[in-house]
Amino acid sequence: MSARKTPISPFNGDALAEAARRILRGELVAVPTETVYGLAADATNPEAVARIYAAKGRPSFNPLIVHVRSLVQAEWIAYFNSDALALARAFWPGPLTLVLPRRATSGLAPAVSAGLPTVALRMPKHHIVQALLTLAERPLAAPSANRSGSISPTTATHVAESLGEDAPMILDGGPTERGVESTIVAVGPQGARLLRPGPISVEQLRDAGMSLALSGGSGIEAPGMMASHYAPSKLVRLDAIEAATDEWLIGFGPVEGDESLSAKGDLAEAAANFFAALHRAEAAPPARIAVAPIPDTGLGAAINDRLRRAAAPRPETT
Ligand code: TXA
Ligand code: MG
Repeated sequence: MSARKTPISPFNGDALAEAARRILRGELVAVPTETVYGLAADATNPEAVARIYAAKGRPSFNPLIVHVRSLVQAEWIAYFNSDALALARAFWPGPLTLVLPRRATSGLAPAVSAGLPTVALRMPKHHIVQALLTLAERPLAAPSANRSGSISPTTATHVAESLGEDAPMILDGGPTERGVESTIVAVGPQGARLLRPGPISVEQLRDAGMSLALSGGSGIEAPGMMASHYAPSKLVRLDAIEAATDEWLIGFGPVEGDESLSAKGDLAEAAANFFAALHRAEAAPPARIAVAPIPDTGLGAAINDRLRRAAAPRPETT
């Protein structure tokens, strides 16, 4: 064991200034957003962006989300048609990512969008990432701050544990509020398409006047949406009412379990607890994980999407 100092810094003015200096030097900083912790770097600096892929062990074909401070900054980077503007006005700042055509003059490091002509943009709502965006005055590329393929981090400790020696400075803002990653919608001339369900539900998008095609079937459009992307290290069984002897049961509503995502059956509470519950289930003694049924409406669709991936057969178990 190395005697490395903890990378976790309580959030205050000094920590913020240090984080902004690191960003401007091309280094990485892990930062809380309202969804999950992100591993942030200056999106305009190719070396900084390369460091993200290296720290996460992320395949270079899987593009990153760029976080912006304002709609004006976003419009420097990408083309917004009327649908995209309507979505940004309705849900920004907030947990909605828009995949849009990238401008040739965006100034982004090409690796950010992994060779695609589009770019994923989001204006986050958390005050800490907003403060870093304001002070560093750079768009921030930030994927979830976990090793590629493992569970997303909703606390500073999750980040430190997942990235280990590669964890850079981590700004600690406590547990994240929403708990699942942003909803991703691609907007193009053919209309809007849901690429990843998330905290902004399909129902909310439709209420905002969006006619939305659901992604699915052939072709992986958000490259990180591979079936087994959110893989815990243990086997996961879904729709469980009772635990088998070697299972740790994550409950919901009437199914009590070893712990509950939400005893009162509240989906927002369940989403906020979701990744932390999976982390605890991984650390618990039983060899397998079981999860109670979750309704598929509203935020439940985002939770079930992550659960199906967590339970999907692994291509390789080395
Ligand atoms: O809530 C979130 O979105 C968090 C916080 C940190 O903002 N970020 C996050 O990033 O979940 P990440 O890298 O774990 O997931 C980003 C997803 C990936 O599935 C990626 O393939 C997709 O966005 N993506 C990024 N750029 C894309 C593009 N141009 N076209 C299609 N999908 C894209
Ligand atoms: Mg991720």
